[in-house]
This record gives sequence, structure tokens and C-alpha cells, in this order.
Amino acid sequence: MNKITKLVILLQLLICLPTLVWADELDDYKLFSVGELWDDDRGMHINAHGGGILFHDGKYYWFGEHKGREDNAAWVGVTCYSSEDLYDWTYESVALSVEEDPNSEITAGCLIERPKVIYNPTTGKFVMYFHLELKGQGYKAARVGIASSDKIEGPYSFIRSCRPNAGVWPMNMSEEQRASTITSSDLPSEWNEEWRDAVVNGLYVRRDFQGGQMSRDMTLYVDDDGKAYHIYASEENRTLHIAELTDDFLDYSGRYVRVAPGGLNEAPTIFKRKGKYFMITSGCTGWTPNEARLLSADSIWGTWTEHPNPCKGFKAETTFYSQGTFILPVQGKEDAFIFMADRWQPQYPINGRYVWLPINFTEDGLPYLLKYDFWSLSDFRSKPDIDLNEEEVIIKTFPQFPGGDKKLYKWLGENMKYPKDAIDEGLSGIVFVKFMIRFDGRIDKNSVRAIKGKCTRSMIKESERVIQKLPRFTPAMNDDDEPVDCWLILPINFSL
Ligand code: DGJ
Repeated sequence: MNKITKLVILLQLLICLPTLVWADELDDYKLFSVGELWDDDRGMHINAHGGGILFHDGKYYWFGEHKGREDNAAWVGVTCYSSEDLYDWTYESVALSVEEDPNSEITAGCLIERPKVIYNPTTGKFVMYFHLELKGQGYKAARVGIASSDKIEGPYSFIRSCRPNAGVWPMNMSEEQRASTITSSDLPSEWNEEWRDAVVNGLYVRRDFQGGQMSRDMTLYVDDDGKAYHIYASEENRTLHIAELTDDFLDYSGRYVRVAPGGLNEAPTIFKRKGKYFMITSGCTGWTPNEARLLSADSIWGTWTEHPNPCKGFKAETTFYSQGTFILPVQGKEDAFIFMADRWQPQYPINGRYVWLPINFTEDGLPYLLKYDFWSLSDFRSKPDIDLNEEEVIIKTFPQFPGGDKKLYKWLGENMKYPKDAIDEGLSGIVFVKFMIRFDGRIDKNSVRAIKGKCTRSMIKESERVIQKLPRFTPAMNDDDEPVDCWLILPINFSL
């Protein structure tokens, strides 16, 4: 009998959604709902895709691409939202507006992607970098745009665009690679190993040496010593570059390295933990999600070591249907980093969703990601929910309440008593209860635990009491049709 456990997030919205009146004392029970619509203070879905966050003067500022309904072109610009707790976001501004002038490089209809903002304490300026594609040229231009502002929320003034590091060799390109005379016309018409070797040996770096290196998907990173770096997909998206910026953050210092040559990495994100640098990137499949990649290094200049996919579990091969954009260190918490990603909707871009996940670490200190439907900042912890050494179990069928879900709701309704104090106060609420259904269908009573919610303590107590009394389920089945242990999370609504 296979008794391996598996965390399964089961979202079952109970029949009527209540008008929620949150209990103030449990305010820290706010949740990130992964991939759902995220409203701002105006009740509108946050429009800040491919974004990044800067923490400044006690607030988080989220900058991202404003997306329209029909295409991915920039018709508005870069938006800015602010938050004190990362859950509730206030719309601030269009931080960088596209321009009406058809001759402007950021004219309406160009592509502005993956904007990031950093603060320069010496100049007092906020500096924005973004991936810029010129209007009507598809992804051919492969440029970086640079803008700055005295105020974090903008307006940002567009300074210029460029291809980085014109006339400068990467620090980790050998003399032999620099001197090679191989060009694409020496290579076969079909892509093959010879091509790959040529790319690894700097084919495109040489081609673009005079005009500057291509720069598409990107992020910015400021290290502990105040040095800032622009990390971008270069060389026809085949190689990442990490380029140091000048002290004012407005230009390139001329020091840069190639990372994973020929590796086809996009969507770079980076963070540092205990002196080690980590990058989580994606492969190159356009708007379609793919398997994330993990790289680590002891110095920002490398050597960067490649590791297996950092995502674990169901749909790990699609980064849980998303593509990374930024890694955010959570303020005031040690070892708390959020992997921010986009679930793109290229046919209806404004509807793209945000996939934010807490980063976990293995005992060896390697980051990994699990899929959550809901989580909160209190979920950052040293011990993960699952043992990574356990054999992976795919649940083919989930545990079933006798008679199905409707009977379950009926049973809960009949057995749950609305707590008197909540009635007296006129309070509604929601409690998420996590529990395990064992391979024999029994509830594991010791496993029952309210993990989050917006509720009174009496609602937590009542939910746990009733869930412990649930009758036997039909157990979950694995791929070999064997019954297995299975975790469930059930939201319980208290509605007056
Ligand atoms: C994948 C990139 O990561 C996105 O930012 C965007 O450029 C799409 N490709 C376009 O296909």
C-alpha cells in the first residue's frame, strides 16, 4: 500500500458567497490568491504585467506593463501601484507614458516590456530600465529604454534607448573567441550543433560588437555594495548578459559577462541569499509557459552553475503556467523571497494573471517552488509542506465525500453551528481548513488545522471541530489505482 502523502489544494467555493465582514484582529490572515484577478483600491484588476517591485520609505511600489485588450503593444505605458503589506494595492500613476509624437522611440504602439525601477541614493533619482521594441518592427530592435524621475511614482522622463555595451567585449570572452572570423554566412542553412557552437563561441557578440548587444527580457539588481546590474536576454535570446551600471545607474560601466551561452534563457530574475546569487529564468517559447531554470553563483560574475527545474509537483514543467518576472525580498523577514511571475493571456493581454509564490529552500540551500492556490506571508518557514525526497505521487482521483460535493456541503451545513459571538457581532468570515484523508478514507484527526482565513477565533474552533467529525471518504487514488493519503484544503464560509 502506498502511503505517500501529497499536498493537494482543493478549492471548493461553497454555495453562497457571503458579504464578508472581516474580523479586525485577524487582519494578518490576508491571502495571495495565485492566478486569480487581483483588484486595486478602485476595484480594477491590477494592470502591471512583467513587473518588478521597489521597496522605498516603508512602502512597496510595483511597476509593470499596462496591457490593453487586443494586443501587446504599449498604448499607455508603465503603471505604478503601492502597498504597505503586499496584499492591498493602491493605484498610483502611469509612471512612464508612451508619447504621441510618432518620431519618439516610445511612441504609442511600441512595445514596452518588463520595466524595473531602482533607486540611486547618491543622485536621489529613481531609474527605470525596460525592454523596448520600436513601433512596427516586431522584436527586431531588441533595445533597452532608460528613464528617470525625482519621485518614485513618476512621471519618469525617457532619457534614451540603446543596445548595451557597444564596442566593449564581455569579460568572459576569450581572445580566441573575440578574434574568430566565423559569421552566420559560414554556417549551414539549417540550425545544428555547428550553429550552437558558433553561438557559444560568440558569433552574435562579434556581429553586434559595434552597434551594441541585443537586449530583450530583463531585470535590474542592486547588490549589497550599491552596485547595480542590468541582466538581459541577448544574442538572439540565446545568451544572458549581466552588465554593471555606472554609479549613477544611467549607463554601462563596460564590465559585463555572458551567462549560459547558447542556453536560450529568457525572463531573468535574481536574488542573493547567504552570500550566494540565484537566478530563476525561463526557456524561450514566446507567451507559452515552459520549464523554469535555476542557476547559482558565488559571484555575480560567475561561474554560474545550472541546476534542475526549481519547480516541484503538478505542472512543474510549465512553472505552474507562468513565466517569472522578478524576485522580491520581503521586508523584515529573513530568508523570505517571493517569486513573481506572469500567467500571460496573449489573446486578451489585460486579463493576464499574477502568479506569486514563496521561495522554499532545500537543506542544501537550493531554492525551489511549490504550487499554492492560496498562501500568505506567514507561510514562510524553514520546513516545507512536502518532503522532496519522497517519491512523487500523481493523484488520479481525489478523495470523495460519500454522495459527492453537494452532500458534503449539506453535511457541513447541518453540523456546523454559527458561533454565538459572531452572530452577536454580526460577523461573517471564511476559514481555510487543511486536513488529510488517509488511504483508508478516514480523516486524520490530528492533521486538521485552520491554516488561514478572515474570521473570528470561534469560527476557527468550530470549523476544526466539525471537520474532525467528517465521515469516511472514498480515498484518493494514484496512477496505479492504489489508494493513497491526500491533503485537502477546504474553505468554510460563515455567512449571516
Ligand atoms: C517571452 C517574453 O518573456 C515576454 O516578455 C514577451 O517578450 C514574449 N516572449 C513575446 O513573445
